[in-house]
Amino acid sequence: MGSESWHEPYEKISEKTLNMSRAIKSLIEELEAIDWYQQRVDVCTDEELRRILAHNRDEEMEHAAMVLEWIRRNNPTFEGHLRTYLFSEREITQIETLEMKNSKPGPSSENVRTSILKTVGSLKQRKES
Ligand SMILES: [Fe+2]
Repeated sequence: MGSESWHEPYEKISEKTLNMSRAIKSLIEELEAIDWYQQRVDVCTDEELRRILAHNRDEEMEHAAMVLEWIRRNNPTFEGHLRTYLFSEREITQIETLEMKNSKPGPSSENVRTSILKTVGSLKQRKES
């Protein structure tokens, strides 16, 4: 990657950031390739070539998924957002609002239940000794 690829002095960028940048650029390239192949599929007049282009488009989707998974494994913030939004059946634009309601400060009902059980358990131990 040439120095024109970097927005800051290369020697000051950490190895972790350099690798994440490589992954992000690769994801962009895979997504662009999917877009370009799909456009070619739309206009291609040769049926066999059309099938090859569609096959290649789908392979790019696999590549995009692989690099996205690497990004997920190496960036906890990204992972959190992917866990929130991917494979959800809820209305996408409503997810953030629902998440904020669920993460209101204060004890969740599960935490309250656990703390009651711990209190009961310690009271029992005290009585028995
Ligand atoms: Fe690819």
